[in-house]
Amino acid sequence: MPVITNIEDLRALAEKRVPRMFYDYADCGSWTESTYRANESDFQRIKLRQRVAINMEHRSTASTMVGQTVAMPVALAPVGSVGMQHADGEILVARAAEAFGVPFTLSTMSICSIEDVAAHTKARFWFQLYVMRDRQFIERLIDRAKAANCGALVLTLDLQILAQRHKDLKNGLSVPPKPTLTNWINLATKPRWCLGMLGTQRRQFGNIVGHVGGVEDMSSLSQWTASQFDPTLNWNDVEWIKKRWGGKLILKGIQDVEDARLAVSSGADALIVSNHGGRQLDGAESSIRALPAIVDAVGKEIEVHMDGGIRSGQDVLKARALGARGTYIGRAYVYGLGAMGEAGVTKSLEIIRKELDTTMALCGRTDIDTIDKSILLPGTYPA
Ligand code: GLV
Repeated sequence: MPVITNIEDLRALAEKRVPRMFYDYADCGSWTESTYRANESDFQRIKLRQRVAINMEHRSTASTMVGQTVAMPVALAPVGSVGMQHADGEILVARAAEAFGVPFTLSTMSICSIEDVAAHTKARFWFQLYVMRDRQFIERLIDRAKAANCGALVLTLDLQILAQRHKDLKNGLSVPPKPTLTNWINLATKPRWCLGMLGTQRRQFGNIVGHVGGVEDMSSLSQWTASQFDPTLNWNDVEWIKKRWGGKLILKGIQDVEDARLAVSSGADALIVSNHGGRQLDGAESSIRALPAIVDAVGKEIEVHMDGGIRSGQDVLKARALGARGTYIGRAYVYGLGAMGEAGVTKSLEIIRKELDTTMALCGRTDIDTIDKSILLPGTYPA
């Protein structure tokens, strides 16, 4: 067993342990993957100011996101088919997040259902909503999230049409995997994964199968998305969703200042600057570059969060410095799950907190809530 000291170690282990099609599904971006790569590399360009001889005792990374206390300003982003990275994946991730004191966001396209996760956790998790053509199904989904006492609804706005991810097509991505020779050969090298899957019944999209009429085969995610996701989604829909939900509403997928202003007008509680982890509009700006202009324009009126490219606690600190009240990790915890199950998710959270805490101290600060641009080296960050 390798010594795990950073997120890259977890990624390498996950690559060994998770079937190729699911590892690639999580790890890829769309088309040329330029936005996917920029999300990470633009963080690297931002430099920190090293400060010394400042009392760095009694540090705190605790903060709040949409009024909820968080052990650090990091939520676990919604990711599709997490239960294919590891058996019962969403339940394990939710448990690790609960123990750590950060919010977990369950995807509409999860394997474990809303009810499954609620039955295995006490802390309020958040629910991510995709809007589909069948509005009655969406209403029922919102009601199910309410019944499960979810703490926030995260409405994704940037995936009504799926962008092309070459690897998914080449791998024949499906949930569960089809019994082809290539898949058998690959699965034969993943004994832990197979054993886990044999021990669970959760191998389909738990929020959907059995809950929506006429959906027999949704194994082909891309075909199913194309036929079910509603391309007419618009700001009027945000209004009825907000009303039906009645709780904290977070809008995910804002990259443009004009959309950020519309998000404010919609009455949402927070927006997430996001390009879907570089999985949708390839060629869009990285999230960390898009963040400052949005914070400038609307930061006083709405809580601004960001996701995309966070692989370390240093990235969290940089995002905070540029005005993000909260951040989300996706791949960083998915790698942990694929590598080592629940313990791997905990490990990824511990790694990020330690990096965040130590970096904050080396920048001469002790409280995450005092972090601003002054910890960054002028000229190295997007204005
Ligand atoms: C779904 O959210 C995806 O990015 O595949």
